[in-house]
Amino acid sequence: MTQYFRNTSMESASTILMPGRRPGGLRPGALLAAGLVACSALAQDNRPATGLTQSVLDQEIKRVEREVDNIEKQALAEWRALPINSSTRMNQVRILGKLLLFDKNLSVNKNEACSFCHMPDTDFTGPISILNETTVSYPGSVRSRFGHRKPQSYTYAPFFPVLLYNASQQDFYGGNFFDLRATGYKLQNPAAEQAQDPPVDPNEMGIIQTVDLSRVWLEVCR
Ligand code: HEC
Repeated sequence: MTQYFRNTSMESASTILMPGRRPGGLRPGALLAAGLVACSALAQDNRPATGLTQSVLDQEIKRVEREVDNIEKQALAEWRALPINSSTRMNQVRILGKLLLFDKNLSVNKNEACSFCHMPDTDFTGPISILNETTVSYPGSVRSRFGHRKPQSYTYAPFFPVLLYNASQQDFYGGNFFDLRATGYKLQNPAAEQAQDPPVDPNEMGIIQTVDLSRVWLEVCR
């Protein structure tokens, strides 16, 4: 992470603008000219304001809800067609994961699955362009409440190790979430700790008590 911030420093930016030249050798005039070129390129971007209105958002939310429902239906069909024996164990786990990720019952108003904010066709981040261009964060099950950040494209998250300090990189490594707060210390798995948050977050799936969640999941597993 510190590496990321280092890369965004002014020194690196000027090296990118003038490849092959050391930043110390840059004349202020050259830097200014490069800045003006960049600004005039931006000024030519005359796109109209994005037009985020309640009715456009409502339509988009409905579209994603329909897509989530369709994938959940497919997953149920796959589950029913699967012979349950030891040779299909891998597929049993895969389909169970799909059933959970696309299950709207895990939210207080039964309208928001995990995938609402992490859809496969947008590489498991948010699927609503107009939100990606404006708020960046996504509404929760209570549609007037928004999460705090951009949904992460999470395909590699289960492979991250428990958060630890790597002495040779001089940086922290592992954990889940942008700020790595799902460390994995308690459950020895960051993704398992992460998955406990969205269902009970009032700005996301909003289930008030975790006991409700375990009841719903038990029903799914039956
Ligand atoms: C309302 C939108 C929303 C919903 C619903 C949601 N997420 Fe997220 N997800 C986010 C946001 C925003 C982040 C980044 C949060 C942060 O870093 O603080 C995130 C982060 C994650 C991460 C961390 C990825 C990483 O690389 O560290 C995983 C894994 C994840 N979500 C899985 C899930 C699962 C599983 C569910 C359902 C139980 C779920 N999400 C429901 C918005 C959502």
